[in-house]
Formats: sequence, structure tokens, C-alpha cells
Amino acid sequence: MRNTKACLFDLDGVIVDTAVYHFQAWRRLANELGFDFTEHQNEQLKGISRMESLELILGWGNVTLSEEEKVAWATRKNAWYLDLVKQMTPDEVLKGVPEFLTSLRANNIKIALGSASKNSKLILERINMLDYFDAIIDGNNITKGKPDPQVFLMGAEATNCKPEECVVFEDAVAGVQAGKAGGMKVIGVGSADILNEADFVIAGFEEMTIDRLF
Ligand code: BG6
Ligand code: MG
Repeated sequence: MRNTKACLFDLDGVIVDTAVYHFQAWRRLANELGFDFTEHQNEQLKGISRMESLELILGWGNVTLSEEEKVAWATRKNAWYLDLVKQMTPDEVLKGVPEFLTSLRANNIKIALGSASKNSKLILERINMLDYFDAIIDGNNITKGKPDPQVFLMGAEATNCKPEECVVFEDAVAGVQAGKAGGMKVIGVGSADILNEADFVIAGFEEMTIDRLF
């Protein structure tokens, strides 16, 4: 018998690939501050909050800013990022995601979002996916970022499920750790080498069916 009563989804890199837009906007910030960073370094920003990402990037460029300047640059970055988000279309939803979410609904499994992003509702609206979710927990609701389990524990609570009845879908190492720390099963989305702490890893949702839940 299936134990899973809710699936908790990360947004960026699981539902839609916004990492490319984050990268473009962060890179513009770095370039304007006089340095550059690689796509490889960008991997470390996945799942991490906006301000933590800024701290990491400033460290790579050896740039020191006051707290006020940091907030101003983070605001600028977000405006550049939102210019890209506003051009997104429903075609950008990752393959197999709508089909999988539809099958969850058909089987009475709750669906929640557990994202570090403060832009999650806007993105879900742009890609026409808002209606699938029973609950949305995002960067606007949490006080502790991943790998802290707070975002997923709040998702479990919002869907009236116990952590052990929840399955988390994550593309970031910090997110996999957050789900495990919350006592949940975690299915990694991406590379099995990178997401080796997950219960198992899928390359994409074309591979996922509800029979594979726990
Ligand atoms: C996460 C992304 O989902 O959200 C991170 O993986 C991002 O890269 C974080 O920094 C915060 O997003 P936002 O949209 O609030 O800047
Ligand atoms: Mg992610």
C-alpha cells in the first residue's frame, strides 16, 4: 500500500528551469562590479536564498559592500531577473511535470510548493501552473533557508500530512538535505552523482509515475 499523502515540490529546476535566468542576472551584477563567475560556480547557488547567493558571489569577486549596498544590488538583480521571468511562457514547464501533477490529483495526493524563491507565485502564474497547488510555501514564509527543513515541514503542515507521508522533489543538494532533515523521502531531479543523498534520482519527470512513490 502506498504511504505517500503529499508531494512537496521545489520550483526552480524542478517545475521550471529558471536557473538560467538567475545566472544571467547574477552575472550582470558581477560584471557591473568588475568580475565574472562560471556556470560551474552557479551550481552552488541552487536552492540558496537571494541574500546568501549575493554573499557567495561577492566572495568570489573579493568585493566588500555595506549592508545597504548589498540590499540595493540584490534589488537590482531581482529587477533584471523579473524582466526575464516576465517573458516566460507555459512552454517552459519541464517535460512530464503537468502529467505527473495531474496523476497526483487523480489519486488524491496533495501537492505543495516548497521553494526558497520570493517570486514563486509570479513564476507559477507565468507558466500557468498555479492551480495545481494545494499550498505554496516560499521565501516569503520562511525564516530559515534550505538545508534547514522548515520550508518542507511547513508544506507538510499545510497539507495536513506527517513528514513521513511526504515525498520531496528537489534538484539542489541543499534541498535534498532539507527534505531528509525533515524526515521525508526525497526524490532528486537531475544527476545521481550530485544528488547522492536522495532516496533515488530521476533525470526528469518523463521517468516518474505514481507507482514509484513510497
Ligand atoms: C531558489 C533558487 O529556488 O530560489 C535560488 O534555486 C534562488 O537560485 C532562490 O536564489 C531565491 O529566489 P528569488 O526568486 O527569491 O531571488
Ligand atoms: Mg531548485
